[in-house]
Amino acid sequence: MPLAEQINEIRNRFSEDVAGVSSGALSFEDVRVKYLGRKGLVVGLFSQMGSVSNEDRPALGSQLNSLKSDISEQLENHVTGSDDSESVTLSIDYTLSGNPALSGSIHPLTQVLNEIKSIFKQIGFSLAYGSEVDTDFYNFEALNIPKHHPARDMQDTFYLSPETLLRTHTSGSQIHFMKDHDPPVRIISPGRVYRNEDISVRSYCLFHQIEGLYVNKNVTFADLKGTLDYFAKQLYGKDVKTRFRPSYFPFTEPSAEMDVSCIFCKGDGCNICKYSGWLEILGCGMVDPEVFKSVGYDPEIWKGYAFGMGIERMTMLKYGVKDIRMFYEGDVRFLDQF
Ligand code: DAH
Repeated sequence: MPLAEQINEIRNRFSEDVAGVSSGALSFEDVRVKYLGRKGLVVGLFSQMGSVSNEDRPALGSQLNSLKSDISEQLENHVTGSDDSESVTLSIDYTLSGNPALSGSIHPLTQVLNEIKSIFKQIGFSLAYGSEVDTDFYNFEALNIPKHHPARDMQDTFYLSPETLLRTHTSGSQIHFMKDHDPPVRIISPGRVYRNEDISVRSYCLFHQIEGLYVNKNVTFADLKGTLDYFAKQLYGKDVKTRFRPSYFPFTEPSAEMDVSCIFCKGDGCNICKYSGWLEILGCGMVDPEVFKSVGYDPEIWKGYAFGMGIERMTMLKYGVKDIRMFYEGDVRFLDQF
């Protein structure tokens, strides 16, 4: 058979052999040895070049060279998988499950805040917001905390200028709302507050509070107790008991702190309630007439109650979180648990 025909035939046989690899008859290495090996078919063709006429030699030489390089190139592609051949497709296992899509979760503070908001919403409280950057007037003065009042020391204020500051509590939202609206008033006002305190397990330079305010004619301390007792039972369960201890806040008179029976030991005494059976959860009281005067409400006509609680504290109690800093570190190992 003339050399030109043999070249064509070897080319065809090579294609058949490559196609047969997927059936397992030969491996790519077997094919390589068969065609390009030292005793392979291509070398065999080259050895016939000696007997080719001078006239035919250039054309046949070039056909033979291109056969050799085509074969090497195709084998190379199969071995490295750089073309879309079976060796690549076969390596994908379509029965394996895919990578799960990661989803975020709602921050525990937001979850507890949402729960508190929905409890108060059901009994007619609307939402109002104050300002995180506020003035001395709203944060202190109008709340009956005059300059040099010792209560200011308790608040460790971040001042931005002599008159502006980062609010130290949400109580200033009461003033903002009453200055802008006529009574009656029934609002809650959540938000961030800031205090220049040493960071520790129990305190952080920022945290969240929710403030409540109800103003109407004939509001009494019994209304305050009834509302907050209802709130505690909604949040912690209907078996929870509440008690009110006399306290002092410049903006309420009388003032009180509300405790709930310990939700961990049911009041028997444990290390979380320091064996008292009670946990303090909020401050409250009847709005001081001085506060009404500072917003232009007539204290002879209008009465009201107010309360304020820390969201971090409520969340730590609810989930048994021991370190307040966990809420701010963005550690997904912590956040994923909620
Ligand atoms: N503002 C107080 C605090 O930061 C909490 C508070 C106590 C708010 C009594 C009130 C209240 O409205 O009546 O500790």
